[in-house]
Amino acid sequence: MQAYSLIAPAKINLYLEIIGDRPDGYHELAMILQSIDLADQIDLRANGTEQIRVHCDDPQIPTDSSNLTYKAAALMAKQFPQTYSKFGGVDITIHKRIPMGAGLAGGSTDAAAVLIGMDLMWKLGLTQIEIQEMAAQLGSDIPFCVSGGTAIATGRGEQLAPLPSVDFLYAVLAKYRSLGISTPWAYKTYRQQFSQSYVSGDNLLQRRQRVHSGEIVAAIQQRDGKRIGQLLHNDLEKVVLPAYPQVEGLRRILAEFNPLGVMMSGSGSTVFALVESKAQAEQIRQQLKTALPDPDLGVWTTRLSANGIQLVH
Ligand code: C5P
Repeated sequence: MQAYSLIAPAKINLYLEIIGDRPDGYHELAMILQSIDLADQIDLRANGTEQIRVHCDDPQIPTDSSNLTYKAAALMAKQFPQTYSKFGGVDITIHKRIPMGAGLAGGSTDAAAVLIGMDLMWKLGLTQIEIQEMAAQLGSDIPFCVSGGTAIATGRGEQLAPLPSVDFLYAVLAKYRSLGISTPWAYKTYRQQFSQSYVSGDNLLQRRQRVHSGEIVAAIQQRDGKRIGQLLHNDLEKVVLPAYPQVEGLRRILAEFNPLGVMMSGSGSTVFALVESKAQAEQIRQQLKTALPDPDLGVWTTRLSANGIQLVH
């Protein structure tokens, strides 16, 4: 078959702890990553040329070689040059639903879909682990996007341990559409302000292990939505909220509607409220729209998901 369509879900962070510095310049992290139903669709079509071409229905998304989907296709071409010369290039069409600069891994999940789709299109038969190794070369959270669901992520974010699904929970996502936050800026600022709390050596290994026996993992294993809500955590809030009062304001207002918990996702600018039902998610969406009638404010209701990249056809 020469064409494939894939569903590429966004993620939220139920937990994000910055533990220390890494020799490669990245941070050592302990996270719990969670797929959500909000998703892009990626269409792939062999184009019989030598080119990789990216198309997107959102004009704000760059379609040149800086797009992560382009980089994913270029990495496949580099790794499998003979297959590339046999099958030729690819047209990648992104149907964009996940907001960008949002801390929702929108670009990362699209790249994960391209790796999986090209593996199918080129009949390579790669294992999930092989695809995730390639994914890690493109970005820290792309290996998670490949498998999705609920997972502990350590190291740069690429070391994954699956957790039981919490897809009985829902979330309300809120983001000012024009406000994107740079992830490198957030981590750099955190290092400037908090590196005195970083641990190294054996302490680092212990802290990495500690998340596995942590309270929020126990709450997930017990399917205790209320407790999960109380234990949401994100170290990056310490630098993002003071610098972006709009995000802080969104977080404060969402908390007033009594969800299970409220937290910023990744490096922002999305804030999410965790809730027990679709009806409660819809109610909070309405309450937020009434409290903040700003056309720039995007509000989405979504279900937590057990799925990573899914093939449509
Ligand atoms: O890996 P990715 O390209 O998604 O990371 C984006 C940026 O986030 C990196 O350039 C780095 O500044 C920061 N980062 C980090 N430590 C991690 C993951 C990301 O410092 N473990």
